[in-house]
Amino acid sequence: MDRLRISGGHPLVGEIPISGAKNAALPLMAAGLLSDDGLTLANVPNLADIASMADLLNELGAELTIKRDENNQGQTVRIHAQEITNIEAPYDIVRKMRASVLVLGPLVARAGEAKVSLPGGCAIGNRPVDLHLMALESMGAQIELEAGYIHAFAPKGLHGSRITFPTISVGATENAMMAAALANGETTLINAAREPEIADLAKCLIGMGAEITGAGSDTIYIQGKPGLSHTNHSVLPDRIEAGTFAMAAAMTSGNVELLGAKLSHIEAAATILKECGVNLTETERGLRVSRLRDRLVGVDVMTEPYPGFPTDLQAQFMALMTTADGASMVTETIFENRFMHVPELTRMGANINIHGSSAMIRGTSNLRGAPVMATDLRASVSLVLAGLAAEGETIVNRIYHLDRGYDQVENKLKACGAEIRREKEA
Ligand code: UD1
Repeated sequence: MDRLRISGGHPLVGEIPISGAKNAALPLMAAGLLSDDGLTLANVPNLADIASMADLLNELGAELTIKRDENNQGQTVRIHAQEITNIEAPYDIVRKMRASVLVLGPLVARAGEAKVSLPGGCAIGNRPVDLHLMALESMGAQIELEAGYIHAFAPKGLHGSRITFPTISVGATENAMMAAALANGETTLINAAREPEIADLAKCLIGMGAEITGAGSDTIYIQGKPGLSHTNHSVLPDRIEAGTFAMAAAMTSGNVELLGAKLSHIEAAATILKECGVNLTETERGLRVSRLRDRLVGVDVMTEPYPGFPTDLQAQFMALMTTADGASMVTETIFENRFMHVPELTRMGANINIHGSSAMIRGTSNLRGAPVMATDLRASVSLVLAGLAAEGETIVNRIYHLDRGYDQVENKLKACGAEIRREKEA
């Protein structure tokens, strides 16, 4: 297992290319199952989760070819699912990556049947899949839960439906949208998730011949088609990676240009960062980040579905607030148990108290390096940020979580002056 050794206190200065979004690439790859004609995705990040999804698609009968993009930033993945030869997403793959459940909708729609291991609990909470199942049932699938597996079947195909989600779910919206693309008739998704990754998936499906309107708003209309064809699609830039590096630059008093980042995708975070004293300006190539003033100030934040402040930036923001003047209250409304970075940040000298789903952070002028343990993807990167700003040496153990979601993180930081290196855990 690898770990990162960081010597803190160096301002990040330079350019960071933003990779394609993991959370867009995963559903896009699952969408490859919808067509017998293939799907070519460019700007796919090189991550452990992408490799897991590739393994899963292979298992289901798709042929994949993966090669580096010409600019050497991402990769091009060609998926050819001429036939679905297996309808089972096994426990061993699903337990590694919860997003495996995104093959459920495409499999039922294309093959009339799917067996997908129940994802079960994960480090950041319970994370049920009831909304994914409700949507498919409403389109005519029969669902049974047997021996830890979701068994869904629709031998006569799915039909269009009017589906109202009681709570907003990114994954359930994606599963329903993909299934509806091959269903018979029109589907309306009400209270749908509005994330840019949903609009990117819709754009790709439309390229494949689907008829979809409203993606990116809370109501999506999908007119089902009997089949979809090949298209080329380039994955949109990762707004969470962009937000993470923006906070890293702010935390180290740096000045960084985030190449390819889009301000419109991180507006809620950008507004909050401005209040804290971070300057974000659009450039021709992306976004420039620097501090507006010497010391940052504490600002309160509540996580919300898009376009609100993303839960996937909560841990990084909390790390940033540990170094600000004054207090900040961070409230997590999407996932229970998403404060696992708190004890680790505390070991580095942070002053944080948790009260239910809120955490009160009182800023300190100096974090101190320490050995820490990564617990989930975003918690891991928050510890890297703290290490970059801390005095002395920080060792972040168990970084396999980080490799699930950040492409070449240490190289990107090193190129901007960070002292960071990957080594094997003893
Ligand atoms: C996606 C993202 C993840 C992000 C999350 C919220 C991917 C691959 N992952 O996860 O990085 O943190 O959105 O922005 O895109 N829920 C239910 N029943 C369901 C489904 C969800 O109750 O059937 C609940 C969840 O427990 C959670 C909330 O809805 O409290 C939002 O979850 P959801 O939007 O579904 O997250 P994911 O799609 O799993």
